[in-house]
Amino acid sequence: MKDIYVDDFDKLKHGERRLITNGRLEIGVFRVKDAIHAFLNVCPHQGGPVCQGRVMPRVEEHLSDDMKSVGMSFSDDEFHLVCPWHGYEFKFQTASHVGSSSISIRRYATKVVEGRVYVSV
Ligand code: FES
Repeated sequence: MKDIYVDDFDKLKHGERRLITNGRLEIGVFRVKDAIHAFLNVCPHQGGPVCQGRVMPRVEEHLSDDMKSVGMSFSDDEFHLVCPWHGYEFKFQTASHVGSSSISIRRYATKVVEGRVYVSV
């Protein structure tokens, strides 16, 4: 196990990423609000470059008492990574697909030490 320096925490803004390599593997490192997440850049669907996808807030539908839609909004707390090939969405918090917890992307441990972001590989 080794730690790879990615960038300074302050240089990564919310929703931004860095792609790093470790041998033949490519890893996407993201800042989402004040958290750092790192995933293997391989989608479990058909191997697409999931870490090159969009960072999107979860879309929330609001329902009336009689369960009719009264509008939609974006979540302030939950963000998803959307694979650019076919649109599979993964939750940053769990690394799992939004519709099936049995499908997930590979997560790597991260840490911030003295303002510097590292990924453990
Ligand atoms: S390869 Fe990612 S959604 Fe198909």
